[in-house]
Amino acid sequence: MISRPRRLRRTAAIRDMVRETRLSPSMLVYPVFIREGRNVFEEISAMPGQMRYSPDTFPRILEQVTEAGVSGVLLFGLPEHKDEIGSRAWAEDGAVQQALRVGKERFPELIFFGDVCLCEYTSHGHCGVLKGETVDNDRTLELLARAAVSQAAAGADVVAPSDMMDGRVGAIRTALDAAGMEDTLIFSYAVKYASAFYGPFREAADSAPAFGDRRGYQMDPRNLREALREVQLDVAEGADMVMVKPGLPYLDVIRAVKEKSCVPVGAYSVSGEYAMIKAAAARGWVDECRAACEVAVCLVRAGADVLITYHALELARWIREGML
Ligand code: PBG
Ligand code: ZN
Repeated sequence: MISRPRRLRRTAAIRDMVRETRLSPSMLVYPVFIREGRNVFEEISAMPGQMRYSPDTFPRILEQVTEAGVSGVLLFGLPEHKDEIGSRAWAEDGAVQQALRVGKERFPELIFFGDVCLCEYTSHGHCGVLKGETVDNDRTLELLARAAVSQAAAGADVVAPSDMMDGRVGAIRTALDAAGMEDTLIFSYAVKYASAFYGPFREAADSAPAFGDRRGYQMDPRNLREALREVQLDVAEGADMVMVKPGLPYLDVIRAVKEKSCVPVGAYSVSGEYAMIKAAAARGWVDECRAACEVAVCLVRAGADVLITYHALELARWIREGML
């Protein structure tokens, strides 16, 4: 007698019954770029199908997000003017703050995530304030905390620090609590690698560093144990959820973080991952739906509880249609 796992693949009904990985639209978060100004609705050339909005046009996409059953949106801001310290990151009338107010009022059931970083707001494009040519970690903490509090005040349910400064989760937690925002969650980009796959994002957010790179604060792709240390520290400082980023090349990291921590784990399918699928699909080299579904399934199989992805709206539809 031979063992026959193939029997479990015989019919669609059997395959459905025994699947080990299931996805739901509620695990998806959709990243959105908000520009200061009015009437903005422009495509990001390196990310076909992704638009920049202004606070007044933003509700258009929220309608689709709601309809798709996607849990929420992660907001990135593009200021009209940048400066040395990124002061538009905590402006009451900043792009993200305005969008949060409009969005939260009209779509209170959606979860609003604010990306907290300075790189979109600084003239030099680094994620913190500079001391000479390097980022001043400790001076940056106070500014990140200010940005987080201003987003929470504007309606963010969750703040997501993506800067990779040491101690920022603790600084943000302390500042939120002091401002009476004990219920605001922190979704930390705990494990963020210095990656080539952020290329299209830097065009989308106009945030490429003016000199140098981010290897002084983002992680080395060669390191896994260091990722666990980052997670441990962020959780100890009060992170409610942690993220691994990018997604696809880091499945082993997602798995390790899942096993070694007790908080929900997010995986961010970043701009370059999206652009690769889009570019290949446009040439007919891969099938966009099948490729995007496979990636999403594999991220969840690896251990992701939440997926942040530019394909969120399509994935939600494909899940409903039974494609994954
Ligand atoms: C900013 C930030 C980046 C991304 C999210 N937050 C870019 C970077 O660190 O250079 C990347 C997202 C993407 O590529 O989709 N700190
Ligand atoms: Zn940054």
